[in-house]
Amino acid sequence: MAKYRKKIVAGNWKMNLSIAEATELASSVARGLAEVREVDVVLCPPFTALGAVGDAISGGSIKLGAQNMYWEKDGAFTGEISAAMLRGLFCRYVILGHSERRTHFGDTDEVVNRKVRTALESSLEPIVCVGESLEQREAGETNEVLEAQLRASLADLGADYGKVIVAYEPVWAIGSGLTAAPAQAQDAHAWIRSVVGEIAGSEVADSLRIQYGGSVKADNARELMSQADVDGALVGGASLESRSFVEIVRAGVPND
Ligand code: 13P
Repeated sequence: MAKYRKKIVAGNWKMNLSIAEATELASSVARGLAEVREVDVVLCPPFTALGAVGDAISGGSIKLGAQNMYWEKDGAFTGEISAAMLRGLFCRYVILGHSERRTHFGDTDEVVNRKVRTALESSLEPIVCVGESLEQREAGETNEVLEAQLRASLADLGADYGKVIVAYEPVWAIGSGLTAAPAQAQDAHAWIRSVVGEIAGSEVADSLRIQYGGSVKADNARELMSQADVDGALVGGASLESRSFVEIVRAGVPND
């Protein structure tokens, strides 16, 4: 029998919202989802709003995530944030290797791997992003690119593979309004699961949760998340509006 995997939907707010705006959005999402327990929900505000959003959702089932972190424990790393600092703000998750970090800030697979290992050592659950560019897809290199990113980003995690979440975010679908067709997403997710099976064994692969990200909206979320290997969503733009995010989460409720 196929393994049941609880869906996980995360809102990546990127570099948006003041503390006041973030608090209001988090409170509104929490109200909208007060009765929803069938989906794991994560909010990932910018660092500046982690404390306030943590307060706004405390006592409920929504969890807090960060958008990045550095791998060193402490020291002279101006501008960086450590895993312990995120734990101190009650973060449970951290997004690592987002394509915007890879493109604009030079996060290589090796950098992502160091961060992933540090996150796991610090009891943070990493959401590790992989995805191909349009050029790579058109050249027929999608599987190869995903495999290389996974093998390097998830190298040497020892007993911790079971705590990793992978987000498949085709770069061409991020913020573009172009969503992967459900079958395209399913193909990529099935491939990711098989590669993780080779890296970490079939038990880990069977329970691995793989989110889809890239122009997820209220009107396409249900079909995407109904694919066999799509276990949730990583939502950018549509997570900045309470109503659309709540609808996306509800689309992940089984048989809703
Ligand atoms: P959009 O939903 O705005 O396309 O962003 C996706 C994303 O990058 C989530 O991490």
